[in-house]
Amino acid sequence: MKPYLKEHAWSIIEEGFNKTNHEISESVFSIGNGHMGQRANFEETYSGSSLQGSYMAGVYYPDKTRVGWWKNGYPEYFAKVLNATNWIGLNIVINGEPLDLHTATVKNFKRELNMKEGYLYRTFIATLSNGNELKVEATRFVSFAMKEIGAIEYLITPLNFDGTAEISSYLDGDIINSDANYDEKFWTGITQTAEGNRAEVTVKTKKLDFVYTAMKETHVYLDSKAITPRSVNTREKYAEVVFDAPLKEGVTTAIYKYAANVTNRDHQTDALTTVATDRLNAAVALGFAELKDAQKQAWAKKWQDSDIVIEGDVSAQQGIRFNIFQMNQTYTGEDARLNIGPKGFTGEKYGGSTYWDTEAYCLPFYLATADQEIPRNLLVYRHNHLEKAKENAAKLGFTKGALYPMVTMNGEESHNEWEITFEEIHRNGAIAYAIYNYVNYTGDQAYIGERGIEVLVEIARFWEERVHFVPRKGVYMMHGVTGPNEYENNVNNNWYTNRIASWTLEYTLEALAHLKASDPDRYQTWINQLNLTTDETTKWKEIIEKIYYPTVEDLGVFEQADNFLDKEIMTVDQLDDKHLPLNQNWSWDRILRSCFIKQADVLQGMYFLNHKYDLATIKRNFDFYEPMTVHESSLSPCVHAILACQLGYKEKAYEMYLRTARLDLDNYNNDTEDGCHITSMAGTWMSVVEGFGGMKVIDNQLYLNPFIPGQWTSFSFKIVFRGARLMIRVTQDNVEVTNETNVDVTVNIHNEAYPLTANSTTSVAQ
Ligand code: BGC
Repeated sequence: MKPYLKEHAWSIIEEGFNKTNHEISESVFSIGNGHMGQRANFEETYSGSSLQGSYMAGVYYPDKTRVGWWKNGYPEYFAKVLNATNWIGLNIVINGEPLDLHTATVKNFKRELNMKEGYLYRTFIATLSNGNELKVEATRFVSFAMKEIGAIEYLITPLNFDGTAEISSYLDGDIINSDANYDEKFWTGITQTAEGNRAEVTVKTKKLDFVYTAMKETHVYLDSKAITPRSVNTREKYAEVVFDAPLKEGVTTAIYKYAANVTNRDHQTDALTTVATDRLNAAVALGFAELKDAQKQAWAKKWQDSDIVIEGDVSAQQGIRFNIFQMNQTYTGEDARLNIGPKGFTGEKYGGSTYWDTEAYCLPFYLATADQEIPRNLLVYRHNHLEKAKENAAKLGFTKGALYPMVTMNGEESHNEWEITFEEIHRNGAIAYAIYNYVNYTGDQAYIGERGIEVLVEIARFWEERVHFVPRKGVYMMHGVTGPNEYENNVNNNWYTNRIASWTLEYTLEALAHLKASDPDRYQTWINQLNLTTDETTKWKEIIEKIYYPTVEDLGVFEQADNFLDKEIMTVDQLDDKHLPLNQNWSWDRILRSCFIKQADVLQGMYFLNHKYDLATIKRNFDFYEPMTVHESSLSPCVHAILACQLGYKEKAYEMYLRTARLDLDNYNNDTEDGCHITSMAGTWMSVVEGFGGMKVIDNQLYLNPFIPGQWTSFSFKIVFRGARLMIRVTQDNVEVTNETNVDVTVNIHNEAYPLTANSTTSVAQ
């Protein structure tokens, strides 16, 4: 598909209305504030193809599993975030004719996602079949300052006529997920009321009793004169306030719609109407302009902490800002019950559920750009699900330990393909690794004693039971697994899974030793509570020592899994282009038998455990596996980009970076209409900061080893490290680090230590 979005450093811009791109734009131009989110549907009626999407974080439904062939151990439900009440709707009828861009003649259409200030703007001129021509300008946002508030300004200017607009400002709770296993409606109506210029719709999920109240107030003005509503109407799950607004040629009629969206996740069910009334009163009292100004301030703070500036390449600049914008819209971290769905609030695919993507790809972004509490809450989320993870392991026949689900909302497994649900168990390792990553970056060792150790021990116990000893060979092995590379299923001894398992055991033992030395009382309390025996820890040591790692000695590389080298080994460039992407052109059988790799696998291990391998080992493995990798998971290229940077493979690093940076803006995978690839956006951030910036934390020290792609004049990024906010600017000639705070910090640039006192700058030649 031809890219159709305009390049701009701070905005995503679409000019001209092309219906075939509409659903892609609905995803790309989505807005969110961590509490709720909205696809970029039009406020007014649109009779063309569209996926209406309005989502409240954490409000989900257990949709009954649908599989062809049931296997014992499958979950009964797939928990999915629900498409919910449409609160943006405005039906507008001009002199008897509906305003509908599917039927009207449209010109001067422009849609803009203003990332700097956090709002969506749209303008167009429409000519209706009765000849009436009008200009519309619509602005909306979901507020960061008032999380439960969404606000819309909708301006109509008749260009060649006078008359009347019938404006119905409505709430519609009669919504169905496009992704519903049995085409079932998930919401039942509770109440709907409308009076004066207010309306309320309260709906409840058919299972789990989530209750959601949407309450809105609408104001219509002609030339600053308020118009009173003509009527109100309700029916089940629906409420509207209708205005007859006079229209005068050349004079703007303004509609303001404020909506409070509250749920019983955050409030008592019987208080929802009162809370919504309070929130709405506060929003209306502030007014649209002030709310919008507060939005701008909130985004200024976000950009201050997380912006990346790329000079000399607007397309790259726009790409990275879009990714940072979406990450900040999706997860704000105040609520440890929430997590990051692979599509965020931009679509329904993946059910808004949590995957290992969070720990493996998203955590680093929040570690480096947000207050410590925010990434910590991502760990707390898994700690809160520990009991469920233990139940999950028990359900699969383990006598102890915890197996975190592949896909989850509330801690229970939702996924239902045996080769993934039961076998892609490396995810457990990523959850342990996230604890290490968090402690390593923040220095918050206390987390281990507070919660981390419990998760580590239970994951370690799972690995202990999941491996088996092979007396004939004197080694521990792990059979029947699927590694990160899902293009090879049900393999024995996936190198990455074996490695992350034994690493978990190593780290758990280290964490226990550290806790024992630093806080013996707490250590003892945990030992008692977990009933951890020396038999267990002794066994862990033995597994670490004797675990089997498939290796190809003559090539000096780790073997992705047993017998991988017995496959027909080829590189991607030996394939004719017509075969790619494999997942759209080859049978699953052919994919599984081939050597082609969907996403980083051995190299995922080289990335996570980078500090354990020397450069020569990383290079040999990279040189061997990179040419076989098709990157058909959007999560893959970032890991390759980071390793390519470390190895000085400049061209490769840039090529990999480009594959992730504008994935949705340019709709590379031809699937953006389903929603944006939110979790892989975090990977793009990693490519810049950990790849081009070469950022690492080793032994409480910050290291930067930057290199700059030849295509860029400079790039700069912000990180927060141990209380100091740093701006790192890299040009072709030097690296400049500015400490923007009052906290002293030492930074190692190209392995040389530079003390950076408060508010100072250090410059080092590249
Ligand atoms: C990837 C997984 C990932 C999932 C959700 C799959 O295509 O292979 O690694 O967790 O998508 O993003």
